[in-house]
Amino acid sequence: MLSQNELKQQVAKAAVEYIRPFLGSGVVVGVGTGSTADLFIDHLAGFKDHFMAAAASSERSAQRLAGLGIRVLDLNEVQGMPVYVDGADEINARLQMIKGGGGALTREKIVASVAERFVCIADESKVVDRLGKFAIPLEVIPMAVNAVARKMRTLGGNPVLREGFITDNGNPILDVAGFSLDDAAEMEAVMNNVPGVVTCGLFAISPASVALIATQQGIRTMKV
Ligand code: A5P
Repeated sequence: MLSQNELKQQVAKAAVEYIRPFLGSGVVVGVGTGSTADLFIDHLAGFKDHFMAAAASSERSAQRLAGLGIRVLDLNEVQGMPVYVDGADEINARLQMIKGGGGALTREKIVASVAERFVCIADESKVVDRLGKFAIPLEVIPMAVNAVARKMRTLGGNPVLREGFITDNGNPILDVAGFSLDDAAEMEAVMNNVPGVVTCGLFAISPASVALIATQQGIRTMKV
């Protein structure tokens, strides 16, 4: 029986196949954040002479990329990218996700929005029928924390301030538990519309393009 870390290793390696068609073409690769994305970065380093640079969704990933000798570009220097590779905290059959367990949700959503394809890499424990068991992270402007928390309670959620954590953008995170989502895209739109919310950790309006799921039986590819 493979451990969760071994499953993550396998799926991180499998994601390289989504980069391979672009090697040698001076391409920029979008890179996510988290333990699975870290393993992808390690595999990517083996190909660093065959792509131009990476755009990272966090300082953590940028440091790991640079430490392995991969050039990291500011997103403002990037015209576009064919692929963004990142993990997820939950993913459903429609490839809608909850992300931001590592707190990088805002930059993840921004970098993903610039890429043509979002390749989600996860082990099978992340696949769910309904999103919401994992508390939905909200990056919030500091002065709006209590106002946003009250609004989340009126929506039926249970917000908890992530203690001792500040995002790369200098903001706190509210983790909102208590939802079992029938319509994740609608909830994303509602949350996005609350004044003071910078980013909601639901990636439902723009789901992944493809998901590579590591299982005990091998890599399962999920598409919509
Ligand atoms: C980071 O903010 C998150 O969105 C991660 O992508 C997500 O939490 C998955 O992380 P792991 O690969 O560590 O499970």
